[in-house]
Amino acid sequence: MTSLSASVVARAPGRVNLIGEHTDYNGGRCLPFAIGLATIATVRRRDDDRLRVHSREAIPGDHRWREYVVGVVAELRRIGWEIPGLDIDLVSTLPLGGGLSSSAALECAVATAIAGLLGAPLDGAGRRLLAEACRRAETEHVGAPTGGMDQLAALLGSEGHALLIDFADPDAPTTTAVPLPVAAAGLSLLVTDTRVRHVLADGDGGYAQRRRECADGHPRRRRHVTTENARVLDAVDAIGARSWQRLGGLMTASHVSLRDDYEVSVPQLDLVVDTALTAGALGARMTGGGFGGCTLTLVAADRADAVREAVDAAYAERRWDSPRHHLVTPGAGARVLRGAG
Ligand code: GLA
Repeated sequence: MTSLSASVVARAPGRVNLIGEHTDYNGGRCLPFAIGLATIATVRRRDDDRLRVHSREAIPGDHRWREYVVGVVAELRRIGWEIPGLDIDLVSTLPLGGGLSSSAALECAVATAIAGLLGAPLDGAGRRLLAEACRRAETEHVGAPTGGMDQLAALLGSEGHALLIDFADPDAPTTTAVPLPVAAAGLSLLVTDTRVRHVLADGDGGYAQRRRECADGHPRRRRHVTTENARVLDAVDAIGARSWQRLGGLMTASHVSLRDDYEVSVPQLDLVVDTALTAGALGARMTGGGFGGCTLTLVAADRADAVREAVDAAYAERRWDSPRHHLVTPGAGARVLRGAG
């Protein structure tokens, strides 16, 4: 590796999972895509060996985001990278803890910037290496027992494509880019942030409990994983055949399975899904780990506003904090913006 740059800026996106939830740590399949909301990391060499991290979005009293950064640096050092003292500045357009994988975006932005600083390759193999280091940062250093979906989506996502990931071999997941021409089909993908915050970095939380239940062979949890894995393949098939109604139906079936068999939904997620479907969406589901976070709705572009308004009205009726909506499209994975080594 060369070491030419003193300062590198890199960007890593958040992700939305189209379908295939709670399958990554169960040796299964998922179909996420990178989105336009992202975290940007600026990494500068220091003359000493200190690590200084600053974030504009720091939540007072919440120091976990620092641990993600420290974890990434530690994991890259563990695999032999000689990383000098660094000043790291973070800026994010991703809602923190909002189910769009703000933590993976943060990890991957820092890892990509450090790769740029050290002149490490950012080809497919280089990106897989970073994804694994970032996943380990999360599980080993922060204590969030997540799978590898979010980091692979942030690093290997590509414009206009979803990423089919198969974790049959958890140590060497395979990835396939799947063209997702929704806009050309007159459709929109609408993300709705329920404003209910979930916490994955909690050893006793529901996420860790679901992992244990699956490992223990809990029949209903396993049934979700089996049916969800089949739905992912059906979804890839439906996308290939441009059968958007079918894709929508699979998304909704995924939500029902996550609600009833996996039991990771909450009333706000269910309300958004039901309201979106009543307002004419082709399909809708919770996306991400659950217990809050976001939904993803597939809807004809000219119905997207009607869905949004119906969901806002349903929330207002219950006097819940207004949800936030984002139209998303499949975007590129992490990249160096400036100053590559
Ligand atoms: C979180 C985790 C992922 C995955 C999803 C559920 O986003 O970080 O690894 O397990 O939940 O599909």
